[in-house]
Amino acid sequence: MKSEILRLLKENDAYISGQQLCEHFHVSRTAVWKVIEQLKKEGYQIEAVRNKGYRLIDSPDVMSRAEIESLMNTTWAGKKVVYYDETDSTNNQAKAYGEKGEAHGTLFVADMQAAGKGRRGRVWVSPAGSSIYMTILLHPDVLPTKAPQLTLVMAMAVAEGIRKVTGLETKIKWPNDIIVHGRKVCGILTEMSTEIDYINYVVIGVGINVNQETFPEEIRDTATSLKIETGSSVRRSVLIATIMECFEQFYEVFMETEDLSGLQDRYNAMLVNLGREVRVLEPGNEYEAHALGINRTGELIVRTVDGQEKEIYAGEVSVRGVYGYV
Ligand code: BTN
Repeated sequence: MKSEILRLLKENDAYISGQQLCEHFHVSRTAVWKVIEQLKKEGYQIEAVRNKGYRLIDSPDVMSRAEIESLMNTTWAGKKVVYYDETDSTNNQAKAYGEKGEAHGTLFVADMQAAGKGRRGRVWVSPAGSSIYMTILLHPDVLPTKAPQLTLVMAMAVAEGIRKVTGLETKIKWPNDIIVHGRKVCGILTEMSTEIDYINYVVIGVGINVNQETFPEEIRDTATSLKIETGSSVRRSVLIATIMECFEQFYEVFMETEDLSGLQDRYNAMLVNLGREVRVLEPGNEYEAHALGINRTGELIVRTVDGQEKEIYAGEVSVRGVYGYV
């Protein structure tokens, strides 16, 4: 009921009377009043005027299940939210729920992670109050070999969502870092459980630097936040809901062909490496090449100095700009 009351308050600029809310939810006036008091405690500014009702004046950067669900305009992606003020890692939570058969599309969100995980076994430092840490649980009916492509689908959704909410020009560093003005604002970590020919579940974890004002010395040159780039705070729940909307749309396109055919041009248009010289870092082998864009299965096509075209598979390989991070 809390998410629904919030949604009604957000959709109405005018007052909604207590009576209307009681009738809508078939509950007492006291029950409605209690929910309004809870919302105020969480930081919402709600005006209550006798004989008129309730009106939402301001929603700060509140993170809660009710807030996120009240903003969600999707059919399945993030329709159900499991929210934690603090957890070890939203990927771990999503996997534990996945083992128990939790539904496709459930979204796990935390304000803080005590054991946030990055790619290649790195730590994803996850303090409270300023970032997005979220993981979507999926049961895609495709072969396990296709699942890594979903990481690129999520990268597109994050890039598009950030652009919609902030107006910033977002780029993707292959395969799935989101870049604003040459620095990283988001990383994505996909994990899965599969049989030989069957996916039990896939979890796609997204960490976005939203309202940080500074970064530790060692990553200051390569990391940034949306607040640093726009000069103003961004409401995390709004961004989460917008990304889920984009993800749902892109996912449906992906499932039509079970590959990136329908998304490839759009992905390449966002690719920061496109047409640039990159340094390809394969285990035990490094070389420079010219990036030509992704193919329909998400590999990066590069032209090496001797004119050969190669397809690089993301698993073990990464690319850097020849003159720096991008
Ligand atoms: C990277 O190394 O670039 C990927 C970082 C992924 C971090 C996110 S935060 C939410 C989810 N939970 C985790 O423990 N990791 C991912």
